[in-house]
Amino acid sequence: MTYEYILADVRGSGDRKTGLITLNRPKQLNALNDGLMNELGAALEAFDLDESIGCIVITGSEKAFAAGADIAAMASFSYMDAYKGDYITRNWETIRSIRKPVIAAVAGFALGGGCELAMMCDIVIAADNARFGQPEIKLGVIPGAGGTQRLTRLVGPSRAKDLIFTGRFVKADEALAIGLVDRVVAADKVYDEAAEWAAQFAGAATYALRAAKETIDRGLEVDLETGLGIERQQFAALFATEDRTIGMQSFVESGPGKARFVGR
Ligand code: CAA
Repeated sequence: MTYEYILADVRGSGDRKTGLITLNRPKQLNALNDGLMNELGAALEAFDLDESIGCIVITGSEKAFAAGADIAAMASFSYMDAYKGDYITRNWETIRSIRKPVIAAVAGFALGGGCELAMMCDIVIAADNARFGQPEIKLGVIPGAGGTQRLTRLVGPSRAKDLIFTGRFVKADEALAIGLVDRVVAADKVYDEAAEWAAQFAGAATYALRAAKETIDRGLEVDLETGLGIERQQFAALFATEDRTIGMQSFVESGPGKARFVGR
C-alpha cells in the first residue's frame, strides 16, 4: 500500500521480520495531522495482522520524530472541532491495541503529540540529539493525546508537572535519567539499535509475548488484585498453545534456551 504521510517497509528475512514505519512529513517536522494518524493506524494494524512480522519500529527523520500535533490544522478549531472526535487523537487507541512489540526510534524533536506517541510504544530508543517535551502550555492548551496521564505514570507527578507546566524540552540524557526513554545511542545508530532489540523476537513464543504485553498494559490500569487475576488467566491460557508444550518439553529434555517455537 502507498501512503502519503508515512513510509512502511518490511525489514529482515524469514518468518519473523520487522515492520518499519517512518513518519514522513519532513518539512513540517512530522507534525501529526489526521491523514498521518489514519495512515499510521492502518500500517500498524496491517503489520499486526501479518504473521511474518514479529515486531514494529516507528521512527521519524534525523531532525524530528514528530514535533507534535499539526498546530496549523488546529489553529482555527472550535471547541466542538476539538471535542467531537475528528481531531488526531481519534486514532490513538489503535496504537494502544497493537499486540506485537512496538519500538519508538526517536531522533530530534519528540514534542507534544510526538512525545505522546513515543510514550505509547513499548520501548523508546533515543538518539543523543533527541529532545522531548510537552510544550502545549505555550499554545494555551494542555497535552491532548495522553500526555498528562502517560507522562505522569512514567516519571511521576512532580516531574510530569515540571515538564507540562513549563513546556521545557528535555535532552536525551535527562529523558533517560527520569525514565522517559529506555536507551540512548548515537544519532546514526538509533534505527540499528531498535532493529537489534527487535531481532531478539525472531523465533520467540509469539502468544506468550502478546500475553505479556497485554497483561502488563492492562494491569497498569487496574488495582493489584485485578491485575493478578488478569495474569492468572493469561498464564493459564498459554497452556493451550503449542509453544508452551514445546518450551517446557525442550527444557526437560535439553535444558534452557533451546526451544524452537512455532508461533502457535
Ligand atoms: N505543527 C505544524 N507545523 C509545525 C509544527 C507543528 N507542531 N512544528 C513545526 N512545524 C513546522 C514549522 O511551522 C515550520 O514550517 P515552515 O517551514 O512552513 O515555517 C517547519 O515545521 C520547521 O519548523 P521551525 O522553523 O519552527 O524549526 P526550528 O528548528 O526553528 O524549531 C521546533 C523546531 C522547536 C520543534 C519548533 O518548530 C516548535 O516549537 N514546534 C512546535 C512544537 C509544539 O508546540 N508541539 C506541540 C503541538 S500541540 C500537541 O501536540 C497537542 C497534543 O497533545 C496532541
